Amino acid sequence: MYYDDDTIEQVRSSNDIVDVVSTYVQLKRRGANYVGLCPFHNEKTGSFSVNRNMQIFKCFGCGVSGNVFGFIERTENISFPEAVQFLADRAGIKLPEKSNDGYDNSRRNLKERIAAINKEAATYYYRMLRSGEGRNAMQYLKNRGLSDETINSFGLGFAGRYSDGLYKVLKTKGYTDEELATSGLFTINEKGAYDKFWDRVIFPIMDQRGRVIAFGGRIMSKAENAPKYLNSPETELFNKSENLYGLHLAKKTKEKFFLLAEGYMDVIALHQAGFDNAVASLGTSLTERQAKKIMGYTDSVIITYDSDGAGKKAALRAIPILKNVGLSVKVLNMKPYKDPDELICAAGADEYRKRIEESVNGFDFEAGILEETHDMEDPDSKTQFDHKLAETIAAIDDPMARHNHIESAAKKYNIDPVELKREVNRIGAALKVKENNEREKERAKATREIKPEAAQKKAEYSLLNMLVCNKNAYLAVKDILKKEDFAGETERRIFEYLTNDYERVGATVGARIVEKFESADEQKTVADILMTSDDFEETSEDERRMAFADYVTGVKKSAYDREVEEAMRIGDGAKLNELLMNEDSLEALRKKLMNITL
Ligand code: GTP
Ligand code: MN
Repeated sequence: MYYDDDTIEQVRSSNDIVDVVSTYVQLKRRGANYVGLCPFHNEKTGSFSVNRNMQIFKCFGCGVSGNVFGFIERTENISFPEAVQFLADRAGIKLPEKSNDGYDNSRRNLKERIAAINKEAATYYYRMLRSGEGRNAMQYLKNRGLSDETINSFGLGFAGRYSDGLYKVLKTKGYTDEELATSGLFTINEKGAYDKFWDRVIFPIMDQRGRVIAFGGRIMSKAENAPKYLNSPETELFNKSENLYGLHLAKKTKEKFFLLAEGYMDVIALHQAGFDNAVASLGTSLTERQAKKIMGYTDSVIITYDSDGAGKKAALRAIPILKNVGLSVKVLNMKPYKDPDELICAAGADEYRKRIEESVNGFDFEAGILEETHDMEDPDSKTQFDHKLAETIAAIDDPMARHNHIESAAKKYNIDPVELKREVNRIGAALKVKENNEREKERAKATREIKPEAAQKKAEYSLLNMLVCNKNAYLAVKDILKKEDFAGETERRIFEYLTNDYERVGATVGARIVEKFESADEQKTVADILMTSDDFEETSEDERRMAFADYVTGVKKSAYDREVEEAMRIGDGAKLNELLMNEDSLEALRKKLMNITL
């Protein structure tokens, strides 16, 4: 560990989880929890819950959970020590010097190590472009109209003409083959070690904090049988579906909207022309996670994809994804140019600015494409058009906007407004049913995940949950329960930690208990346990007491059964007799617990 427990605890308690999560996810209060759309998987229903008392989050859809550090590790794509630093900065806490500085591989987190290799690689490529060997590559970039300033600010590079240049450099810096392999920048096998990129112009891909997480490499010739672009494979550090090229620059824009392009060169050309709000989703079609990421910086997007068929299709796919996370969407018309890079080179920045002004809203773009693909004079084709248009309108979430679109579309396309409205409502109802089914499925999955082995596990989880939340509950059973009463090792440790906390400082916090567990798996179990039953605030005192008594006796009963089983197994007759004598005491215990105040 880089930091001691007290430091970590100070940072954690200075960053309220609801506040931190709110800067990434729109949360709504629901009972004891705050609920929103999960940033870690695709969903339309809010399964993502944050609990302020526990200082823990959990998604009941995908099962991810943890405390504020875990949340930041995931959203910022950083390691635990980096998350501590990030949150310390956020709270204005100055951290002590790291206890182990310098290059210590065994303790260095994988993500950090890949980031270090990428940084070395970026420096190497950068130097190569500016060396004699990179003369052609530099000329290529200049020919494409890039200025020195642009080339520098995007950190562009060149991969060198030999197939192991980078490998050799990194070996002299002490990296092992195994480490280098995790970066995805090399092919290492019996035959030798090779750089993945060579003789290509290099585009470093950065995350929103400006850290190099991957590379794209463009071929400079028109070779027939080699791909135009090569990209780093996904690594521990690089997740294609959540990253946006140019975001580290675009996030600083003064504009109220983002431009969403397709390629590296588009983003770069746009920035050079003064459009510092451009990002791209890079080859893969836009994902919901990318849309959510954009939503973290702006609430409106202009799609500026290629003008060809593929670009149009990609725009049609992107529109609902962007709208679903709450972004307002417009589409820019590129014709007759292929992409933003080409438009700016041929017609200039002012023309592009004009196109921004003229961009049409997402709905009009969709309707326009439907119009292009249907014969409006042919009754059958026109009918088909009407139905498709109704589908498009039904996908609009806001009822007021839906109403307005029905009115205006009916007029514009000569459709009976009553019929159009009926059709939109019919499709909308079908969509609702489908959504409800999905929600049910997510719920069912979550239920299976939380209570894998039914009653006993549920009793243990719920009991631990109540003990953490409620000191009176702890006081009522501190002389009755011991850690061995719990079946699992993780559960036992939780009980031990909360006991220690209560005895030493008189209080305990869920999120701090999570911190005691090293592995992500264990942390997940702990968070699951601590999020098990948070609906007690809604129920009556009596119900709560009854549930508590049930859980304690349930846990005691299982422990008792285990002891009996063990005594029988080893043939310990005396112990068995003693145990059987005590069998009735569980009922007495339940009665006693029914009289306590929680
Ligand atoms: P230029 O031809 O250099 O102007 O590139 P572009 O940015 O206009 O590329 P294009 O519109 O053809 O493709 C958009 C994006 O898709 C690129 O920036 C790449 O990220 C990705 N891409 C394009 N071609 C390939 C390829 O052959 N392989 C892979 N993996 N990605 C590609
Ligand atoms: Mn292009």
